[in-house]
Amino acid sequence: MRKLFALILSVVVLVGCSKPKGSEMDRFIDELMGRMTTEEKIGQLNLVTPGGGIPTGSAVSSDVEGKIRDGQVGGIFGVTGPDKVRMTQQIAVEQSRLGIPLLFGSDVIHGYKTVFPIPIGLSCSWDMALMEKTARIAAQEATADGLNWNFSPMVDISRDPRWGRVAEGGGEDPYLGSEIARAMVRGYQGSDLTAANTMMATVKHLALYGAPEGGRDYNTVDMSRIRMFNVYMPPFLAAIDEGAGCVMSAFNDVEGVPASGNHWLLTEILRDTWGFDGFVVSDYTSVNEMVDHGLGDLQAVSALALKAGLDMDMVGEGFLSTLGKSLQEGKVSMADIDKACRRILEAKYKLGLFDDPYRYIDEKRAEIEILSAENRAAARDAAARSFVLLKNEKNTLPLKKGGSIALVGPLANNKNNMLGTWAVSGDPQLSIPVLEGMNNVAGNSVTIRYAKGANISDDPAYAAKINVFGPRIDIDERSPEVMLREAEALASRSDVVVAVIGEASEMSGESSSRSDISLPESQKKLVRALKQTGKPLVLVMMSGRPLTMEEEHQLADAILYTWHPGIEAGNAIADVLFGGYNPSGKLTMTFPRNVGQVPIYYNHRTTGRPNPGDEFQKFRSNYLDVPNSPLYAFGYGLSYTSFDYSDVMLDRTTMGWNDNINVSVDVTNTGSVDGEEVVQLYIYDVVRTITQPVKKLKAFEKVFVKAGETKRVSFSLSVDDLAFYHPDLSFSAEPGEFIVYVGTSSDEVVSASFTLVE
Ligand code: NOJ
Repeated sequence: MRKLFALILSVVVLVGCSKPKGSEMDRFIDELMGRMTTEEKIGQLNLVTPGGGIPTGSAVSSDVEGKIRDGQVGGIFGVTGPDKVRMTQQIAVEQSRLGIPLLFGSDVIHGYKTVFPIPIGLSCSWDMALMEKTARIAAQEATADGLNWNFSPMVDISRDPRWGRVAEGGGEDPYLGSEIARAMVRGYQGSDLTAANTMMATVKHLALYGAPEGGRDYNTVDMSRIRMFNVYMPPFLAAIDEGAGCVMSAFNDVEGVPASGNHWLLTEILRDTWGFDGFVVSDYTSVNEMVDHGLGDLQAVSALALKAGLDMDMVGEGFLSTLGKSLQEGKVSMADIDKACRRILEAKYKLGLFDDPYRYIDEKRAEIEILSAENRAAARDAAARSFVLLKNEKNTLPLKKGGSIALVGPLANNKNNMLGTWAVSGDPQLSIPVLEGMNNVAGNSVTIRYAKGANISDDPAYAAKINVFGPRIDIDERSPEVMLREAEALASRSDVVVAVIGEASEMSGESSSRSDISLPESQKKLVRALKQTGKPLVLVMMSGRPLTMEEEHQLADAILYTWHPGIEAGNAIADVLFGGYNPSGKLTMTFPRNVGQVPIYYNHRTTGRPNPGDEFQKFRSNYLDVPNSPLYAFGYGLSYTSFDYSDVMLDRTTMGWNDNINVSVDVTNTGSVDGEEVVQLYIYDVVRTITQPVKKLKAFEKVFVKAGETKRVSFSLSVDDLAFYHPDLSFSAEPGEFIVYVGTSSDEVVSASFTLVE
């Protein structure tokens, strides 16, 4: 028998973005809408870009100034700098008939000008206070320049490292992803959306955008509802529960209907079930793209989108150019247009724009706060905390501050690739290369000599695809052989080799899917050649995704995975390499051994023919040519110290429906340096009516443990933590046995079991 919970689905209490003085706002908007023409109402639903920033589609808007003057624009993005923002807002406020202020949007994805590590990197810190802080700083900087609406956080779960946008998300786990979504919404929106240094968050891309077939961006998605609701939806629900003001619809279809025109998704689930009361914006021309999806002409798909619950049309102008006609022809109603218009005006009201349309522009604050020493220090700290130590044989790391280091690799003295993807407002030239950072941190005590050793890729055609936003892959004038020989020679006369290698920043991100996710050949050769020198080999790897790197794993003595670390890259890497910061990052995505294992993720459901080991077994679920296990598991990451876990202690072995069960472990730092450990708790639901994941993350805590010290870490589980979505979308737990695992990684745990009884 199964006890049904009141559907979590059905009740969502909106907190962070509570309606400011509801009726006062309603009265204000009623009065304003009473004065608006139909054209002006439709104008509010139009989001334009003059083409600044990064255009992510083929279209950019024309005659933007004229349209603003004519009341045909509700929001704008790609306008940068306080002067331009002020000037643009002035056109709306002073020259349009009703003077309705504009929303100013942007993709402030991992920092504004102070660029933090890419989101997948930040997620590896498992530090929610840190993630909230980085979002807070991003909002403070962006708002000083006049922006009030952020197209972040991207909370798309992804289990496919071929998909380039894994760089922008929090990895593969729905629980961790939900915690991250909450932290980022809190960081951007603060507790008062009208404050001049907070901005409206957009949770994106609803829905399933992270699961395109073949890992190819914008491709078809198809999945069961139990997977959708148990894995892909939770971070959206969490962000909405935290008060996110806006939702962006995805490019892809959901159960055959493009997300931007999907009534079930945008109205029945998002609003009626989850209680979302903000507005929905399309992705870049995703309304128009419904024409390519075969759902009719621009007029038909625009009407479909509006009726589905989409409020604002990004760049495509389908709403602007066709809704008037659709109204006359009875294909949409005035009520449909009013509803969407009201939601946009409410957002402006909640941001305080009707009180002061210029409140977000503050040149003085911009001068003091943007790229301040304090913000840069925060970026350095965040980067160090995002790195994951994957291997460290014979304590190769930390490096001694003495002797000589051969610093080699195409990313070792490189400014152009430190920021990573989606750093629209960042200036790569302000970033700290690794060579500079190592010299800063090591001072004169170490001899650090540099050789490039290899190009990121030797292929000019490939480089051309990557270099769309500036020179990322720079092919040296010297031949690959000459560079390689120089690096080998340098390595041979040094005590240790540090090779900084990996992906250029635009090798991941939007429209940057890869079918082969290994290092480019030029860099593989470099690693092999460096190994030949017999010197201790440290790999510092930068990337926007998990790479396949079995060979590099075998060859290296130590590997520090740094993702794309942001503006303070070099300093943060040097902090960790020289032991100033003891690495504490843990992977938030599984690293496959080869691309054929993809999709590979720790929380896979059970099979009737499992193979628990790595030895091939006939008629079991496994491959002939590769073990089932990944190269590195979700939750994995080493430290310069070591941690021991006690047995799992439970305060009860039988749990009633209204009980909480306390789970604790003692964690001992058994090494000689202080360190932080991410203690992870997973559950396995042994008795169930539908198949379940072999493990599900349900809690974690990052603890600082001094060398030699023991700390008790306790978690409390309620029946909610044991619940899951059933095929009818009810959310409930089922009585029976549960195993609780606690450990340092999803594949290294201690366990105990208890029984849930009715
Ligand atoms: C397309 C991307 O999918 C979306 O995430 C982004 O916010 C928009 N372009 C605007 O730049």
